Amino acid sequence: MDESHVEGDLVDILYSEKQIQDRLAELAQQIETDYEGRELLLVGVLKGAVMVMADLARQFNRHVEMDWMAISSYGAGTKSSGVVRILKDLDTDINGRHVLVVEDIIDTGLTLSWLVSNLSSRGPASVEICTLLRKPEAQQMTVDVKYVGYDIPDEFVVGYGLDFNERYRNLRSIGTLAPHVYS
Ligand code: IMP
Repeated sequence: MDESHVEGDLVDILYSEKQIQDRLAELAQQIETDYEGRELLLVGVLKGAVMVMADLARQFNRHVEMDWMAISSYGAGTKSSGVVRILKDLDTDINGRHVLVVEDIIDTGLTLSWLVSNLSSRGPASVEICTLLRKPEAQQMTVDVKYVGYDIPDEFVVGYGLDFNERYRNLRSIGTLAPHVYS
């Protein structure tokens, strides 16, 4: 759906469908160059990364494999704590594989830090991260994020896979949620 169906719920459109697709095309090109001659396994984190994965993967002019994990992180309110539980593990044995984790957004980075150390313990050839969005706090995290679509301000955003109470994931663009929706 487009913004006209959620009018009043968004303060502002941060990125249009076109801006998202253009940036994903740039990232895909960079990734293609970096992984030339190497098999690549994309690992998406459900559910938020579904849209990023689908569109990023289709930008590649090469073979990529895709696998998924579902994890839940316990946190107070909207902030995660870094305590994570695996709800669905990978189907793939990643030993010796080049893994690229595909994320929608990194906020504190706690969930991702846990994920990277979990994946690294399985003996992959490499683990890197690609995220469409990154909030300021994540820039202080120790995990290196190799591919970032856009650095955004510390605001709650929805759309393009990102939800508030499971809504807005199917919005084509990314927008800032109006306070009246969550207060
Ligand atoms: P982190 O461990 O704080 O980096 O948590 C990242 C997760 O929190 C993301 O995968 C999202 O599910 C959720 N999240 C963080 N910020 C937002 C936001 O602005 N909108 C929607 N979900 C968010």
